[in-house]
Amino acid sequence: MGTSLTGTRVVVTGSAGGVGRAVVKGLVAEGARICATDITSSVAKLVDDNPGGDIITIEGDVTKATDVERIYRFAEEKFGGVDALVSNAGYIISKQVHETTEKEWDSVLDANSKSFFLMSKRVLPEMLVRGAGCIVATGSISGVLGLPAQAAYCASKGALLQLVRQMAVDYAGNGIRVNAVGPGSINTPFLQRYLDGLPDPAAGMAEIKAAHPMGRWAEPHEIADAIIFLLSSKASFITGQMLMVDGGYSAR
Ligand SMILES: NC(=O)c1ccc[n+]([C@@H]2O[C@H](COP(=O)([O-])OP(=O)(O)OC[C@H]3O[C@@H](n4cnc5c(N)ncnc54)[C@H](O)[C@@H]3O)[C@@H](O)[C@H]2O)c1
Repeated sequence: MGTSLTGTRVVVTGSAGGVGRAVVKGLVAEGARICATDITSSVAKLVDDNPGGDIITIEGDVTKATDVERIYRFAEEKFGGVDALVSNAGYIISKQVHETTEKEWDSVLDANSKSFFLMSKRVLPEMLVRGAGCIVATGSISGVLGLPAQAAYCASKGALLQLVRQMAVDYAGNGIRVNAVGPGSINTPFLQRYLDGLPDPAAGMAEIKAAHPMGRWAEPHEIADAIIFLLSSKASFITGQMLMVDGGYSAR
């Protein structure tokens, strides 16, 4: 893309998953320095999968402040600081409110919105001192639309979007931009697990594709490209926004 991100030190959460892996790959192509983190040990494979990339990896649960601290300190120790955050970790439980347990509610809100709060809270002090920084979160169409059987997930992505707007206002005067991408369905393990949980996965797949005016779902690199755009200087006057990357889903 040629976006000015050469040497930029970026922490990417959820980087062992479909979107995260594509973000890491895209950032390597831009010459960024990447601290890739995920709750699963397979995050370590990103180094071999991206030969020549400036990548360090660390396992951690971004719903826990102690792990977030450990991840931040690792990046600080290896890179000397953090210029940007991609808060991308997340997961879904597909249930209506009356079926959702308190534990399930908490786990989805923690994974999708508390993790964004905790990671942002940890990287912001350094950005405030520097007077520069950029944060991009992975939101969802579920953050702006009421989608069936996504009670906790819709609430969690709605909270994420509001925090994007709120932080954008608080930190705009400090040279820090905060944005999100709002994907429709993406071809990742996340979507596969969702389909597997449906009574008729094949019918679900056809229905999901048809719900997107473009008649298909996204490939992970299409979301990664939007994230990288928002991280870059090409988005220098954009803050507090969720860029919908949804094949037109939310346009109708
Ligand atoms: N796939 C879709 O259809 C879709 C649609 C809209 C938005 N999203 C969002 O995109 C983002 C990436 O999802 P994906 O599709 O790549 O899914 P994925 O399941 O392939 O990847 C998500 C990654 O997040 C990690 N993760 C989950 N909880 C974590 C925690 N507590 N700490 C650290 N890591 C954790 C997982 O281990 C996984 O590697 C998520 O925020 C998701 O909500 C996905």
